[in-house]
Amino acid sequence: MRVIVFKDQESASLAAARMVAEQMNKKPEMVLGLATGSTPIRLYEHLIDFTNQGLISFKDITTFNLDEYVGLSPDHDQSYSYFMHHHLFDHVDLPAERINLINGEALDISGEGAAYDARIQQAGGVDLQILGLGRNGHIGFNEPSDYFTAGTQLVELDDKTITDNARFFTSIDQVPRQAISMGIKTIMHAKKILLLAFGENKAETVQAAVQGKIRPELPASVLQLHPDVTFIVDKKAGALLQEGPYLLEKM
Ligand code: GLP
Repeated sequence: MRVIVFKDQESASLAAARMVAEQMNKKPEMVLGLATGSTPIRLYEHLIDFTNQGLISFKDITTFNLDEYVGLSPDHDQSYSYFMHHHLFDHVDLPAERINLINGEALDISGEGAAYDARIQQAGGVDLQILGLGRNGHIGFNEPSDYFTAGTQLVELDDKTITDNARFFTSIDQVPRQAISMGIKTIMHAKKILLLAFGENKAETVQAAVQGKIRPELPASVLQLHPDVTFIVDKKAGALLQEGPYLLEKM
């Protein structure tokens, strides 16, 4: 595991965007795993700028998103489908047929999950997965649990997640109670992972994920077992990290 602590969110987002761009240029037909939440927005803005400058192209890229709320239609302004179109897809040269989003309105959710995992496999697996981090340690929508999840599946959202995400909805009652998320096993199969976390309210979670015990009650801790994962954090989110048996770089 590699951890890079940047002076602020802006420099961290730019560095993350450069890392994604480098991978895209190395393998122009790569499979890119995408995350939502406020954290990756600036990274996506940089990828749009790079595309406009002709430095990268999405024309042969395939994308898979991590998760979606159950019951929200793709045009609901808080659906992750809407988020992705608004923050990235509508502004780059990514062909619509290579965008993979989970259908939160699927009637057969377990069938939707299995079909989604099959599509990832058919595409050759995720080359680079971008992750955010929930305050409770969730990745995607894999909430603290007493076991690590496997494939893409239905999840009951944690009270903490519902409270955290209420800021995006008109009231907390509007926040869906369920989601469908790539499982931990699916995420761990990605060849390369970039996790971004910013702000002091993520500091304890980052420390526990990087240096704590590997346990399903803190899902992101499983990333310690992944062979190629980089945490990109700002100073505030990295404030509680101690020098350790991983590479801690300070920029
Ligand atoms: C959501 C998403 C996660 C995301 C997390 C953090 O619940 N399902 O993929 O990482 O929240 O959100 P934020 O980046 O806004 O802190």
